[in-house]
Amino acid sequence: MSSFWSGWIILLTVVTIIGTAWLLFANRSRPNDQETTGHVFDGIEEYDNPMPAWWFWMFVITIIFGIGYLVVYPGLGNYKGTLGWTEIGQYEAEVAKANSEYGPIYQKYAAMSLEDVAKDEKAMRMAGRLFSDNCAQCHGSDARGSRGYPNLADGDWIWGGGAGQIKTSINNGRQGTMPSWLPALKEQGVDEVSEYVLSLSGQPADSDMAAAGEKHFQTYCVACHGADGKGNPLMGAPNLTDDIWLYGGKRAQIRTSVNEGRNGVMPAQQESLYPEKIHLLAAYVYSLSN
Ligand code: HEC
Ligand code: HEC
Repeated sequence: MSSFWSGWIILLTVVTIIGTAWLLFANRSRPNDQETTGHVFDGIEEYDNPMPAWWFWMFVITIIFGIGYLVVYPGLGNYKGTLGWTEIGQYEAEVAKANSEYGPIYQKYAAMSLEDVAKDEKAMRMAGRLFSDNCAQCHGSDARGSRGYPNLADGDWIWGGGAGQIKTSINNGRQGTMPSWLPALKEQGVDEVSEYVLSLSGQPADSDMAAAGEKHFQTYCVACHGADGKGNPLMGAPNLTDDIWLYGGKRAQIRTSVNEGRNGVMPAQQESLYPEKIHLLAAYVYSLSN
């Protein structure tokens, strides 16, 4: 803050405090000997009594408290207060305290394998809280996901469900990239291949269209989803033959996936979370289906 504005704030604050104190003391006794102010309405007269003593002293105490506060804490413009308290200082002190309290516990789990941490009840309670704070907004508080956000509790994985693969998903994030197939296949081709995808997952489908769609599938889709349609965790390409869908398995939803493409993004956590916390979270996600 520039020294002008700092001075301005100090002036305003001091003048306000002095003004309030003056107002308080100036009204302490009755200005004239008359009992009433002379206001009468409907036979009711207004008395001119000073404030009761308890109330008066409460104001005095608040003024003294206010002055004392402004002396020890920052509040008057740029003046830092005699205690040297700062918001950042308090935050850092709290972080340091938490680190010295929880640091050794995190260290202990960080040295254990993910599979072992997953069996540790106390670790999983801590990890559950981390999950609520950092992951639940997308994957749901029960980790069961919703459209576009995968279910992490069902044992079905897009990017692989090994403990190490889960940790990589969390650390580095994941980006599912499927382009739109409209330019290559045109409307009719999209309809046909969608019909084939329906049939892959055992749903009723038009057999002529599905047969035509299978040809498109073998040309355009096998590179990522595999010749059998069971997907490929290296590409993040989901299995299309089961009844678990990231974006929905109804005809219209499949058609939208193929028509428009899909680009789900799992944000990388390694910039925002300590490695020890990611270790706990990976073990937690692993524990949900193991
Ligand atoms: C470049 C690799 C790639 C190719 C080629 C590809 N896909 Fe995909 N597909 C993906 C990925 C990755 C996803 C998941 C997208 C995401 O996570 O947002 C996906 C998702 C889908 C989905 C949604 C699945 C769900 O669970 O909701 C369908 C349906 C689909 N693809 C069908 C097809 C069809 C049909 C073709 C061929 C015309 C095709 N894909 C070609 C990579 C590919
Ligand atoms: C901004 C939303 C968002 C947040 C926050 C988020 N995720 Fe994700 N996550 C996703 C999306 C979207 C995908 C799927 C990416 C794709 O389409 O392939 C995903 C995928 C995953 C996967 C891979 C699932 C699979 O089937 O292979 C794991 C594991 C995972 N997330 C764990 C976590 C954990 C643990 C956290 C908390 C630290 C977290 N995610 C926070 C959106 C999010």
